[in-house]
Amino acid sequence: MKKKILILGASGFIGNSLYKELCNYFDTYGTYYSNKSFAENKQFLSYDIEEDDIFQILEKVRPDFIISALRGDFTAQVQAHTHLMEYLSKHNCKLYFISSANVFDAYSKFPSYETDKTLSESIYGRLKIRIENMMMRMPKSKTAILRVPMVFGNTSPRVKELKTLLDSNEPIEVFPNLIINVTNDDKLMQQVHYLINQDKYGIYHLGSTDLVHHEDFIKELIKRLGNFHPLLKKVYTTNEDRYLAALPKKNKLPKNLRITFQEIIDHHLMVD
Ligand SMILES: NC(=O)c1ccc[n+]([C@@H]2O[C@H](COP(=O)([O-])OP(=O)(O)OC[C@H]3O[C@@H](n4cnc5c(N)ncnc54)[C@H](OP(=O)(O)O)[C@@H]3O)[C@@H](O)[C@H]2O)c1
Repeated sequence: MKKKILILGASGFIGNSLYKELCNYFDTYGTYYSNKSFAENKQFLSYDIEEDDIFQILEKVRPDFIISALRGDFTAQVQAHTHLMEYLSKHNCKLYFISSANVFDAYSKFPSYETDKTLSESIYGRLKIRIENMMMRMPKSKTAILRVPMVFGNTSPRVKELKTLLDSNEPIEVFPNLIINVTNDDKLMQQVHYLINQDKYGIYHLGSTDLVHHEDFIKELIKRLGNFHPLLKKVYTTNEDRYLAALPKKNKLPKNLRITFQEIIDHHLMVD
């Protein structure tokens, strides 16, 4: 029997990459909100986080696996995930939540690892922490928290925006003091596919295994994209180096599923 997977936010960048990765192997369903190009696709259901009842979607699909890759109003996200916890407690079903390295954005002196205490200064980071904490109160085997850093890749919104700025010779913001890890859509999809195949649960830090200064990474990426002479706008948020990085220690993935920031740069194609 094929596992039934429901991706919440399957019309988005990460959700849709996941849909494409998984649909040939699993009975995969997804939700869309404003992107009506999915309306004719029988595997897709319309879902408005502020108006619709998530239980109705869950009853229709009856998934074995839910992947949450949503954006939208924060209060509505908390409400929807509260309902997801109720569903999990009553059904044989697992939830994977796309969280973020921002759950650690209040710590600046070190990179963070899976079991470190979360603390955030941003409302985005605090939303992620709130949903993570709900998940941690569930039976362990029912949930996985996937903490993801900035996602790059040829079709990523970040790289598309970078190309637009380069083309129009507009300034590109870099953070010289910020030390990060990064990932791309291809590696992230392989990693999530592996975790589902292995029925894994727990906390995973799905970023490059090494660290880089944001400014250096963006400069190298621009070099890779072509012969540009970019205008860089250096943004200093602190005087000292600051880390925004979630590294794996406890839950390491097999070697072929790890990636370095240089491999991520090399994976980008030159702009025509
Ligand atoms: N991209 C990154 O670098 C990154 C890094 C770390 C974590 N994450 C997390 O990964 C998740 C997905 O991010 P993404 O970059 O793929 O975002 P995205 O491309 O903006 O996709 C967001 C998804 O949520 C749906 N959505 C938005 N508003 C909604 C609403 N009111 N009701 C129902 N659905 C709604 C969108 O549907 P429509 O497109 O149809 O409107 C889309 O399917 C987010 O939780 C984000 O925090 C992303």
